[in-house]
Amino acid sequence: MLALGCDHGGYELKQEIKKYLEERHIEYRDFGCDSTDSVDYPVYAKKVCRAITNGECDKGILICGTGIGISITANKFKGIRAALCTDCFCAEATRLHNDANVLALGGRVVGPGLAIKIVDTFLNTPFSGDERHMRRIRQMEED
Ligand code: RB5
Repeated sequence: MLALGCDHGGYELKQEIKKYLEERHIEYRDFGCDSTDSVDYPVYAKKVCRAITNGECDKGILICGTGIGISITANKFKGIRAALCTDCFCAEATRLHNDANVLALGGRVVGPGLAIKIVDTFLNTPFSGDERHMRRIRQMEED
């Protein structure tokens, strides 16, 4: 199950991503927001991250205007590895190397066509499982 969340700056792109997911019968849960009215992105980042850390969802997509605020918030959660991606190379690399479990996007940065390609790459690239990458991910969690 995929968790979706956004603020007003990401709302329109989230709607495009939902269409893509529905066409492919990919299950998701939308944690808001529900319009372009101004809201606070940490609220939605936290809802999505809690759904992942409690096991309800295995991955998430978070979208704000730039993708920056929402990814900074997400990365404060232990066990969350949120990657802000603006291209498919990074989306692929962050799955292969970082086992990123949250994709962050900037709704005011990437257009819907590129964003969908990034989402597709993120969802369809497995973690490499290489020892060096596992070691580095373990080190992220250490103080
Ligand atoms: C909201 O105007 C904007 O600050 C937010 O969407 C995001 O870009 C923050 O990082």
